[in-house]
Amino acid sequence: MKIKTLDDMEFKGRTVIVRPDFNVPIDPTTKTIKDDSRIRSHAETIRELIERGAKVVILAHQGRPGEPDFLESLEIHAKRLSEILNRPVKYVHDLYGEAAKKAIRELKEGEVLVLKNVRTYPYETKKLSPEEHAKSEMVEALSSLADIFVLDGFSVAHRSHASVVGFTRRLPSCMGRVMERELRALSRIFERSERPCICILGGAKAEKGTKAIENLLKKDIADKVLLGGLIGQLLLVASGVDLGKPNIEFLKKKGIYEHLPKAKELLREFAGRIELPVDVAIDIEGRRKELSTGELPTQYLIYDIGTETAKRYSEVIKTARSILVSGPLGAYEKDQFVKGTEIVFK
Ligand code: 3PG
Repeated sequence: MKIKTLDDMEFKGRTVIVRPDFNVPIDPTTKTIKDDSRIRSHAETIRELIERGAKVVILAHQGRPGEPDFLESLEIHAKRLSEILNRPVKYVHDLYGEAAKKAIRELKEGEVLVLKNVRTYPYETKKLSPEEHAKSEMVEALSSLADIFVLDGFSVAHRSHASVVGFTRRLPSCMGRVMERELRALSRIFERSERPCICILGGAKAEKGTKAIENLLKKDIADKVLLGGLIGQLLLVASGVDLGKPNIEFLKKKGIYEHLPKAKELLREFAGRIELPVDVAIDIEGRRKELSTGELPTQYLIYDIGTETAKRYSEVIKTARSILVSGPLGAYEKDQFVKGTEIVFK
């Protein structure tokens, strides 16, 4: 691979900014971490850096400002990381002010420091090029205190955000182990996948989803794409299914509905290679109820694919020689809506 890995760098005594994806599901009432899988996977990169004598500075985000899972402080993430690594992890509630600078300067070899949520910085998410982000105050200030930048957050790497792209223009950079693993897997799929190649696509990102479907099918990388999540709901709408007002409102609120024309185009162009849910699970006062798509519209929100869909998808998956997965099929953070994802992944 052309992108450098941890193997290409010397870390001893160096201050290393690591950008993982610590954006985890948060319990809205207790504000605690519901699933720490992401922190666990990035711990591999962080542990290696510690062992190789780096002074590790972690720059990460949690949620989007204004949304329920947004937290200004990443103290609970630092605490969880400390439990996973089984060693102290420092936290400073500052990003690039005097307190953060002091904490970075005081780091010793093998120590880890987590900074405040990077999305508290208003320019973090501005639509700017890497060159423009590199000139931002935060990137300038933190780069002057660091020697190396490690991008490990594969799942945030599609964002042209300051903490993702800005440092690469100022510091020697490489990817961490999570990023490396994901890129290697993708290269295998793109360059030499065994056929049939089945792609399972879920999650809540319509733009990413529609681009992925087009890319996978137009370039003939995947034989079939099985859809769930909000991207599945969008294509159901495109196929003429009325999901009901609350679901349409939700798709609009999430900025997904605006991709409807593209979704229709994909269905026209790739008929037979895109599989849609035949049933869905709705939330009736906390209870899961399944409806076939023929029984829609519904006044309740859809949170998962139904069992029949999961079974049909499983049959298709059994014929696959390569499988590419992106995103869950439903709101797996809620116990009653993990079922679709669980059956399909199993
Ligand atoms: C994710 O959870 O998908 C990543 O952390 C990116 O988050 P975002 O969609 O808020 O940029």
